[in-house]
Amino acid sequence: MHRILFAALAAILASPTARAQQDSITRGEHDFRVCAACHSLETDRNMTGPSLANLWGRKAGSLPSFDRYSDALKASAIIWDDRSLDAWLTDPARMVPDNEMPFEGIKDSRVRADLLAFLKEATKPGAAPERTAQNRMNGMGGMMGGMMGGGRAPNLKALDATQRVTSISHCRDTYRVTTADGKTRPFWERNLRLKTDSSQDGPQSGAPAIVSAGMMGDRADVIFAAPGEISRTIEDHC
Ligand code: HEC
Repeated sequence: MHRILFAALAAILASPTARAQQDSITRGEHDFRVCAACHSLETDRNMTGPSLANLWGRKAGSLPSFDRYSDALKASAIIWDDRSLDAWLTDPARMVPDNEMPFEGIKDSRVRADLLAFLKEATKPGAAPERTAQNRMNGMGGMMGGMMGGGRAPNLKALDATQRVTSISHCRDTYRVTTADGKTRPFWERNLRLKTDSSQDGPQSGAPAIVSAGMMGDRADVIFAAPGEISRTIEDHC
């Protein structure tokens, strides 16, 4: 009898804290969208910034797969933990002058606490879903959109015919892009951006992808597997 009473009491006492903690994580997940434009939570999936997977205990500027760290961050000797991350997110430029994270900081300490509560869970080893599982989830109506999907670019390995570029011609100030469905679309040359993605999410070699960009439908990106393909694909003729 005593034990049951004690268990009930413990549950009543514990639950408000647990709920508060859960609420904080949920708010933090929402706040993370700002970061997700540049950071993924998947191991070694780097974007503008390095992957944040397994962040706690990591030395700043030390992820081997990320090639774009500033010298300032690499030389900082910071180990990421609750305290150092709180200082970094308050004012990155103050903590590490000359770092290259284009982010001005979060002045509200509650927002930082929420963000760190979420990040501490989401960056634990094994917390991010497997790449394949995640792709499957993305296919299912983007259910993972909030948590992991923030800035996620679509995988370009499997393209439908409307996206697969078969040829590009350039004449005066116009590119004409032909896709595998037989359609050809003209673009003013300043509206077509030529990019590469050599990662496992990039297109197959020889099968560049066209992805519309911007709101008006007049701009697009053509993404190639490697820089050498760009000049090989574009024919200069009218
Ligand atoms: C516009 C892009 C951008 C945004 C937004 C951004 N970051 Fe960064 N972040 C970077 C870049 C680039 C670096 C590397 C900076 C350097 O080397 O000086 C970085 C570095 C970091 C690091 C150090 C990682 C390491 O391996 O040492 C952490 C932690 C971090 N960011 C967390 C965040 C969080 C949390 C947010 C959201 C509040 C955020 N960043 C928003 C681009 C961004």
